[in-house]
Amino acid sequence: MLDWTDRHYRYLARIMSTELLLYTEMVTTGAIIHGKGDYLAYNSEENPLALQLGGSNPQDLATCAKLAAERGYDEINLNVGCPSDRVQSGRFGACLMADPKLVAECVTAMKQVVDIPVTVKTRIGIDDQDSYEFLTEFVDTVSDVGCDTFIVHARKAWLQGLSPKQNREIPPLDYQRVYRLKQDYPKLHISINGGVKTLDECRQHLLHIDGVMVGREAYQNPYILAEVDQRLCGSNKSVLSRDAVLEKFIPYIEKHLVEGGRLNHITRHMTGMFQGEPGSRAWRRYISENAHKQGAGIEVIEQARKKMDC
Ligand SMILES: Cc1cc2nc3c(=O)[nH]c(=O)nc-3n(C[C@H](O)[C@H](O)[C@H](O)COP(=O)(O)O)c2cc1C
Repeated sequence: MLDWTDRHYRYLARIMSTELLLYTEMVTTGAIIHGKGDYLAYNSEENPLALQLGGSNPQDLATCAKLAAERGYDEINLNVGCPSDRVQSGRFGACLMADPKLVAECVTAMKQVVDIPVTVKTRIGIDDQDSYEFLTEFVDTVSDVGCDTFIVHARKAWLQGLSPKQNREIPPLDYQRVYRLKQDYPKLHISINGGVKTLDECRQHLLHIDGVMVGREAYQNPYILAEVDQRLCGSNKSVLSRDAVLEKFIPYIEKHLVEGGRLNHITRHMTGMFQGEPGSRAWRRYISENAHKQGAGIEVIEQARKKMDC
């Protein structure tokens, strides 16, 4: 999720679940090809990891997909769901739903240069193009060129007039439409996304669908990930406590600090770790007030934990 998740968050998520497939935030082809930083950097612990690409130039997407496959990513996912203006002016994201042929060309170009899966994340429609037939025409055209996995955010996007945030809340969720898609395309791998907050809800969806993608809840309340392996994937290893998760995260944070990184770059992903627990506000507050300070170290996390018991 742009501006929210990064490799530090994904490292934390991976401590809690070895089974999850993790996705990067959307990375544009322009950033990868022309940017100064290394936009493909990640920790090897994050695998299995999908790189989500934003773009609509088939050759650029192919170039980025190839680089990503060489770097060890496990899947390339094309973003056909982001409604932001910035993204529309670059002609990628959700507006690409209106041009399934171009999406098919993009998928074809990527599939020609990588052996890892090339998948698509999309909406159920855009603007007034929100019929089931519009969705199936999109899926037909894109699956015809060999894309066999779709992650469907179960609400349409209004490209004019709604902000990205509103586009994640205002258009109503229509899970039935995604279930119907799975029924009509039993050979495709269809994952559902949007508004899922608990593992019980995931289980319900999995009765109808192949996968569930969880966004905001997995970020704001990350500890829900701690039971994924046991409750959804049949693992019989024991569930880590919140403190055990922190303990496993500390060496990673220490390494980051030794390398000159700032504490708050990591702790910003940890503020929701104790959501719903007594003292969680004290934890959150202490971290927000102290982790950004010059020279802040592991002691801030230890103190924040102690504050919870006060
Ligand atoms: C801050 C933020 C950034 C997001 N960035 C991306 C992104 O980069 N790529 C993407 O496919 N979806 C992005 N999304 C959308 C989520 O992946 C997801 O589709 C949406 O929030 C609905 O799922 P949820 O209710 O589980 O959060 C973002 C969402 C938020 C809140």
